Amino acid sequence: METTVQRIIDITELALRDAHQSLIATRMGIEDLTGACRDLDEAGYWSIECWGGATYDACIRYLNEDPWERLRTFKRLMPKTPLQMLLRGQNLLGYRHYQDEVVERFCYKSAENGVDVFRIFDALNDLRNIETSVRAVRKVGRHAQGTISYTVSPIHTVALFVDQAKRLQDMGVDSICIKDMAAIIKPQSAYDLVKGIKEACGPDLRLHLHVHATTGVTMVSLMKAVEAGVDCVDTAISTMSLGPGHNPTESFIEMLEGTGFGTMVDLERVLRVKSYFVSKIERYREFLSKVTGVETEIFKSQIPGGMLSNMENQLRQQGAGDRLKDVLEEIPLVRKDTGYVPLVTPSSQIVGTQAVLNVLMGHYKVLTGEFADLMLGYYGAGPGEKNPEVVRMAIEHTHKEPITCRPADLLKPEWEKLRSEALPLPGCNGTDEDVLTYAMFPQVAPKFFARRHEGPLNVGTDPLTGVSEMHPAEGHQGVITGPITYAVTVSGMEHKVTVAPFNPSTT
Ligand code: CO
Repeated sequence: METTVQRIIDITELALRDAHQSLIATRMGIEDLTGACRDLDEAGYWSIECWGGATYDACIRYLNEDPWERLRTFKRLMPKTPLQMLLRGQNLLGYRHYQDEVVERFCYKSAENGVDVFRIFDALNDLRNIETSVRAVRKVGRHAQGTISYTVSPIHTVALFVDQAKRLQDMGVDSICIKDMAAIIKPQSAYDLVKGIKEACGPDLRLHLHVHATTGVTMVSLMKAVEAGVDCVDTAISTMSLGPGHNPTESFIEMLEGTGFGTMVDLERVLRVKSYFVSKIERYREFLSKVTGVETEIFKSQIPGGMLSNMENQLRQQGAGDRLKDVLEEIPLVRKDTGYVPLVTPSSQIVGTQAVLNVLMGHYKVLTGEFADLMLGYYGAGPGEKNPEVVRMAIEHTHKEPITCRPADLLKPEWEKLRSEALPLPGCNGTDEDVLTYAMFPQVAPKFFARRHEGPLNVGTDPLTGVSEMHPAEGHQGVITGPITYAVTVSGMEHKVTVAPFNPSTT
């Protein structure tokens, strides 16, 4: 079939970050990634996503790999194609808010080490939480992409998202991304949203769409977005796609045939990347997500597939394996009480954990400190009205006052303090990069610095011998973070509750 291509659709390849984060808990080591770089770099992608919170975390926690060294390696091997990272705004790659100077230094260092495109999001879509990083990225001349964390609720209309896009444009972002971390953007919604944003912001502001494949409908959403004027879509090489991952790159390219839309991506190169990863992903079989097919229940709970199996494990550990259905029904109710926050790191973990506690211990009998903070504005302003009764409980439980300011405005300068704590750690190399590793992962960084000299580990299993090359001291955990102890307050008394965390791979 011959049709003239009237418009080129760009592609961001996710194989090196979100794909293995979603499918094998972010465990792929650098030695299994480098072999694909030449073909990836030559293929003609708009960008290659290769860095973010979970990859950084997994590098220092499980792979004994310096995440900055990984980034420099990618830059060396892929000099032509822009490298992209996912940044949690004021949270950087960690789980708390950082003072502005730390945020700025992180952005400068990431640019210096090789990041070209920064996709910057806030879980609550509170744009005050991304202002500092957008400004810092623009200051060093890199591409600042403002993000809309997509969610579905009675208040999340096309008009509300279009308004957010306009405000991102006013902030001076270089492009906008609609980020659907749970695969819940249905085809018509994708069409309406892309059309609405394009009309409001004008044809010159680039619009990207990130979707997962979990619900089975989003390949059609990509097509509708293309028809509505999207500039770039995110896909993953087929051998690292589907399930809780993404739509396959090759399928997307093939789908466009005869539509008048085309891509600049060289299918021959892409097929080489495909065969490369066949054998690589095989090594990580034990980390493979249990969700391999389609999950349409996500439309209701909005819980990303990767989080579901972890929640099941968590309930089983509490002897409540039969309560999963109750928890899945509780999540939308808790989310409503928060004013319909989108569920993405860290709000997904906060809402999910609170729903588990509500089911196991009674309706808001116990509040986690994080949930109370969310209700009181310490993560930022949420999209809708919060349940005043639950806000009152949060005040009572924590003796804290609700805030309306930008949360980072409450923080004092902290760079020098972080530096003075990091530098004496055995193995710390004295660089700002190491200080940032310590700032974001204060528990894990000291252990990592101390044994970094041993070099990267491969936690995969040799498919021929079945022998794991993993360091014997490492635990085989299916989650990124260790158990979390929450300080919870019941009737004025503080208790410690330990829960296995959910998989943070929800982005
Ligand atoms: Co994602």
